This record gives sequence, structure tokens and C-alpha cells, in this order.
Amino acid sequence: MALKDINLNDIKDTAKDVYGRVSEAVGETVERLKRKDILTAPFMVEMIRTASNMYDHGWDERNGGNISLMVDEAELTDYLDLNQVIREIPTGFDAPTLDGRYFLVTGTGKYFKNVKYAPDVNLGLIRIKDSGRTAELLWGYTDGGKFTSELPAHLMSHAARLEVNPENRVVMHCHPGNLLAMTYVHTLDEKAFTRTLWQMCTECIVVFPEGVNVLPWMLCGTNTIGEATAEKMKTARLVVWSQHGIYGAGKDLDETFGLIETAEKAAEIYMKIAHLPLLNTITDDEMWLLCDRFELTPREGYLSPRKA
Ligand code: 13P
Ligand code: ZN
Repeated sequence: MALKDINLNDIKDTAKDVYGRVSEAVGETVERLKRKDILTAPFMVEMIRTASNMYDHGWDERNGGNISLMVDEAELTDYLDLNQVIREIPTGFDAPTLDGRYFLVTGTGKYFKNVKYAPDVNLGLIRIKDSGRTAELLWGYTDGGKFTSELPAHLMSHAARLEVNPENRVVMHCHPGNLLAMTYVHTLDEKAFTRTLWQMCTECIVVFPEGVNVLPWMLCGTNTIGEATAEKMKTARLVVWSQHGIYGAGKDLDETFGLIETAEKAAEIYMKIAHLPLLNTITDDEMWLLCDRFELTPREGYLSPRKA
């Protein structure tokens, strides 16, 4: 080609185009390099510790149990490009109030004991959209897996608890042995179940003054049990699934773990003494003293009226 045939404007346009693409790539690389390792994020460290602790307590055999932790967008921006959606996963239910919310969730079929060894396989970070019908995967489930089969109960419970307490961030499900055993030998009446737990350890009424709610045996992993759990979550942070396990909700992982831990301790005492003659207990009047001391209101109608 002769020199006279070269169009300088074409060269300028090409140069501009190349410059644009190079600076975009450099910008992206700089952003990626600036991004911190998500495995060091405080919420991730806490999630991994909690899953391991639950396993160590014997509450999560095999893939038993699941956790969902709501994470604020501001907690994520240092670690993830929130425009990079890895894949979209249908949820199969509606949760209209949760659009735009982020959740770190255990994977279905994943073993709690393995979470600390391979967090990116056993956990996933999702963002909810389409009135709850779609989860956008932003991190995790790297083996092609997906969120727990109990996502309906988790997300519907999050929505229910957020109505009661905007600080709620955690829904936790597990299979603690004594609570489970208790559902075979104790009436499932919520008031009676709660009163028994309150009577087993002095601090139970302090930790869960609203008591525990109880569902009969139901098919797990369904929207029906999700809706029933969320309904029960409106009046208590603990919901027993008879012959299956328990759900807890709270403002952080520690508080929620502690709630379940306290109820499970009470159930343990019950299972140790249920077959023995009962010589002593905590009376309702003593429980009223605890309510005064800790300035709490017990679930209405669950304690007999105070003596005048
Ligand atoms: P996932 O493995 O789907 O989380 O189910 C475990 C479980 O506990 C079901 O209730
Ligand atoms: Zn379960």
C-alpha cells in the first residue's frame, strides 16, 4: 500500500480503540488486585467457625443442618465485584421483601465438617431478585452445587424476623440430639414444651423469654414447611421441627448459636431426669423473679399469675 493511501483518521481511531481497551483491562486488573480475599472477611471467618463449632457439638451429622447469614452490601464491596454474576439459580418460591439482599448460605448436601477445609465448595454467596424467585450466585458452590434445600424456610424466616427485628441477620437449622429426642417423649404443645425447657435451667427464661414454637412432623425442604416455619418465627426465635431438629434466628451467628445451645442444654437435662421422680423444680414465682431481675416479659400466659 502506498503511503498516500493510508488514512490518518483510521489510524487515530484504531489507536483510540486500543487505548480504550487497554486502559479498561488495566483498570479491571487494578480493581481485582485491590480486592481483598473474601476468606479473610470477618463474616466469612465467623461463618466457617460457627459451622465447625456446630459440627463439633454433634448437631450436624453428615449434611444435616444449614445456615443463612444476611450480609450487607457494604461488607462485600472490598471483596467481590458485585456485577459479576457466576450463574442464576431459581429458588422456586416468592420472597418479595428480600430483593437485593445478600446471603451467605450453606450448600445442599454439603457436610458441615468440611466447611472449614473447602469453604468455596460448601458455601455460596447469593443475591436475591425477581421477588425472591431468583438467586444470583456471586461466589462459592464451585463444584456446580447450590444452596440448601431448606432455602424456603430460611428466606421466609428471614423475612418474618426482619419484620419483628430489623437487626436480624441469621437463620440456623440443625439436629441437636436432646431436643430431637424430647419431641418423641414430650407433648408438642408449645406452652408445655416451653415451660419444661424453662424449668430445666435457670437461665432459659432469660435467654428465650418468648419461648419456643413447635411444628409437628412435616416434609422438609418444601415451601409448605418454609411457610409454617416463618409463621412460627413471628412470635419466637426458636422453632422446633418435631422428629427432625430446630430452627433459630438472631442478630448474629453467636447469638443464634447461643439460643440453640441453651435450648439444647435444657433438653439434655430433661432427657436425663424425665424418667426419675421429680423432687424439685423452678417455680413460676421464681421465674417471675428472674423476669424482674433481667427486665423481661415472658410469653403471655405461659407463667401462672404472680402471687399478690
Ligand atoms: P441440605 O443438605 O439441603 O442443607 O439439607 C440438610 C437438612 O438438614 C434438611 O433438613
Ligand atoms: Zn434438617
